[in-house]
Amino acid sequence: MLGEAAPAKVNLYLHVTGRRPDGYHLLDSLVVFGPGGDELAAAPAEGLSLRVEGPFGGALAAEPDNLVLRAARALAAAAGREAEAALTLTKRLPVASGIGGGSSDAAAALRLLDRLWDTGLGAERLAAIAAGLGADVPVCLAVRPARMQGIGEVLLPAPTLPECGLLLVNPGIALATPAVFKARQGGFTPPAALPEAWPDAAAMAAGLAALRNDLEAPAIALCPPVAEVLAALRTLPGCLLARMSGSGATCFGLFASPEAARSAAAALPGPRWRMAGGLHRA
Ligand code: C5P
Repeated sequence: MLGEAAPAKVNLYLHVTGRRPDGYHLLDSLVVFGPGGDELAAAPAEGLSLRVEGPFGGALAAEPDNLVLRAARALAAAAGREAEAALTLTKRLPVASGIGGGSSDAAAALRLLDRLWDTGLGAERLAAIAAGLGADVPVCLAVRPARMQGIGEVLLPAPTLPECGLLLVNPGIALATPAVFKARQGGFTPPAALPEAWPDAAAMAAGLAALRNDLEAPAIALCPPVAEVLAALRTLPGCLLARMSGSGATCFGLFASPEAARSAAAALPGPRWRMAGGLHRA
């Protein structure tokens, strides 16, 4: 049995910089991973199967064409072999919530089955397969901090990140990504230049405060509880910055350390879903 983590993806900022003729939006976004996430396990088997368990497993169980299965079939086709594996996905991230659950699961499937099947396809072919599965899958395949451009297929180095903590909070309402992009109004502004490094979490928060998530306003229009989550995060001691991730509705608070984020998670009132800890810095 082989296993692979599918960590939460967090967009520390997300500027929409243009729109392609096919309707996809051009982005400039700083993406990081963690804390926590889904997990995928694979065992050799005849045929391809997927069992979904975990706290959010129910939301996916009825979906016959899960992105994990599509990833497995695409990889097998590229490798010229049968898609054979018994997969188990432990779903701990809320579905359709802006932290890349489905994309991270698909990317984990590519990494895991690439090992199980010993495809020898190489990083470039894997990245191309990832791009064919969804805009966020290439960055999730790389699973390291990256500045993402294009519609998600261009990955540039991220600034060197300081130690810091993240608290993810979700209001319990799924948001469909296309609807949020469609509700967006206004022009296209690329972010200012990023530094090579942020020396500490406070400097990182100050740098990020000058940037935005352009999908936050349309997400709030579609799902007002996002604004309540942001307001709740901002009242927590030690919260340096609060912002929505991706197309929502999950929001994050940035803290000076993983411990500070965990204490804030404990102090957050109400039954909202939360996850706190450090982020993958390299
Ligand atoms: O590629 P993915 O399936 O994750 O995208 C879901 C939808 O989100 C797309 O069909 C599109 O409507 C929107 N989207 C976009 N621009 C992006 C990524 C996603 O407009 N860069």
